[in-house]
Amino acid sequence: MKTAAVTGGSGGLGNAVLKALKKNGYRVVNISRRKCADADENIIADLTAAEAPETIAAGLDRLDLLVNNAGIGAYGTFQELTCDELRKVMEIDFFAPIKLVNALLPELEKSHGTIVNIASMAAKIHVPAMGGYCAAKSAFAAYSETSRVELGRRGVRVLTIYPGRVDTGFSQRAIKYREVPDTPGNSGVTADMFAEKLLKALAKPRVKRLFFPWWYRPGTILAKLFEDFYNRKNVELWKL
Ligand SMILES: NC(=O)c1ccc[n+]([C@@H]2O[C@H](COP(=O)([O-])OP(=O)(O)OC[C@H]3O[C@@H](n4cnc5c(N)ncnc54)[C@H](OP(=O)(O)O)[C@@H]3O)[C@@H](O)[C@H]2O)c1
Repeated sequence: MKTAAVTGGSGGLGNAVLKALKKNGYRVVNISRRKCADADENIIADLTAAEAPETIAAGLDRLDLLVNNAGIGAYGTFQELTCDELRKVMEIDFFAPIKLVNALLPELEKSHGTIVNIASMAAKIHVPAMGGYCAAKSAFAAYSETSRVELGRRGVRVLTIYPGRVDTGFSQRAIKYREVPDTPGNSGVTADMFAEKLLKALAKPRVKRLFFPWWYRPGTILAKLFEDFYNRKNVELWKL
């Protein structure tokens, strides 16, 4: 039986992905600070702790799929967010998955496994008052896209996922100085829909990246074409 490890499988998108993987025949391991009842096994760890990669590697005897999903958001201008807060976001959204991949790479090479990196559409479109999060996810997406080529040469597949907003309570748990405005048109998009699309992309070995929901991709192109309008709207929405 194939083993999949999901970081942040205890809630939100990670939990939906973990359950979908289980339904598709994987033995699923959750890695997070809270226990996940849906997992076959839990490795309780704070991914930002120095010893986390070693502890997690020691807890896995085989690995076919790693989903780097755990993350936090940051909502505020660069004058509101402190550098310590920005470092915290970079630690979980950027450094932690890199360190984890490096610790688990021997197992993934052995199984000719797959890494799924959950980036964000925030890597593709730069939203005022979300700059700290956009920076962390842009860095993570750059890591993921370059890793695809680097690790592909070592027999490990890397798939990058760019989700748009899905209501999981993520923004409530973020470091935030401002209320998050509604994203027009995102209602009805669920974590289970996200997991279903991710599994479909995973089943196709040639797929390199996934944008979810699909219309976020043309949305980013339109926002770039009508940049001034887009920025004016954001100034209003975020009360800047
Ligand atoms: N929801 C969205 O709209 C959206 C959009 C684009 C991208 N994303 C990305 O998708 C991923 C999941 O988002 P979500 O909405 O599902 O968020 P969520 O509901 O807040 O879940 C985050 C998960 O990450 C885990 N986590 C957070 N900090 C951790 C730490 N230091 N160590 C270990 N685990 C930690 C949490 O588990 P514990 O609390 O148990 O540790 C939780 O299971 C994130 O990377 C996010 O940036 C989300």
